Amino acid sequence: MTPFNHPVVAGTDGSPGAVAAAEWAADHAALRGASLRVVHAVDRLLYDGPRYPIPDCFDKMTPSGRQILDRTARIVRERRPGLDVTTELVEGRPGRVLREQASVAAELVIGSHGSGGFPGMLLGSIGNQVAGHVAVPVVVVRQTPLGVAEAADVVAGFDCAETSGPALAYAFEEARLRRRRLRIVCAWDPPVPYGRMITTDLDEMGRAAGEHAREELRSWQSAYADVDSELVMVRGHPVAALIQASSLAVLLVVGSHGRNALTAAVLGSVSRALLAHAHCPVAVVRGPHL
Ligand SMILES: Nc1ncnc2c1ncn2[C@@H]1O[C@H](COP(=O)(O)OP(=O)(O)OP(=O)(O)O)[C@@H](O)[C@H]1O
Ligand SMILES: [Mg+2]
Repeated sequence: MTPFNHPVVAGTDGSPGAVAAAEWAADHAALRGASLRVVHAVDRLLYDGPRYPIPDCFDKMTPSGRQILDRTARIVRERRPGLDVTTELVEGRPGRVLREQASVAAELVIGSHGSGGFPGMLLGSIGNQVAGHVAVPVVVVRQTPLGVAEAADVVAGFDCAETSGPALAYAFEEARLRRRRLRIVCAWDPPVPYGRMITTDLDEMGRAAGEHAREELRSWQSAYADVDSELVMVRGHPVAALIQASSLAVLLVVGSHGRNALTAAVLGSVSRALLAHAHCPVAVVRGPHL
């Protein structure tokens, strides 16, 4: 697992979405006993194009970047007075800067939205540029109007893939740290029926899927015997099952790829959809390289 002495890194552009992410990151750093590093990338190229160069563009943008960092640092220090908080202003495209920061981070935390975007947009571009691209977990924080319910669990999406290990480990560790129950949701989707040509016994199929998942989880549950964990089999599409599960969750943990890893790009379709639609923060944990 990631070394615990690396900081939790929060990316900020000063927007309300980024402040929510920095607050989540501060709480999580405090919980893990880690420090927090708040990073702002100054994207000079937004203004300083090759056709119309602006002399000393980075220097001119630096004061507002510093202001964003100072304000965010003040907010998180007030929230978590004992926390070790540092700030860093870096020139470059935000996605690339945050990917580079990940190499010295315990995890990367960003908001689902920033200061750009458009009404109705479900996920900002940075989420797609970092989740699944880096070795450490990426947490995308969505501002929710309601606080976290007392009964909320940590939820993990599980599809029995060989690559699920790191995501399961993260989910069990989170449940242990937060002293919450871990709900492991495994959705199984019957194939499209081909009328009378092929008949399948769905009850039998469901039983077999449940047995297989339970078997795969057995060693995890005994390694984390102090964590109250439960396997929930759901018949249906994994995105629908996990969106529903996320409505009573402190955190939803998924891998970057599922069983279709070979056909997926950097991020599997389930993880991608959940980043846009889940009701709670989502942690995307990359599996071992294939
Ligand atoms: N310049 C930046 N430096 C550091 N982190 C950033 C920066 N820009 C965005 N982020 C992080 O990414 C999160 C999402 O912002 P993002 O830019 O993806 O969405 P947006 O601004 O709403 O839309 P768009 O993709 O059109 O810019 C922010 O909440 C913040 O955590
Ligand atoms: Mg943006």
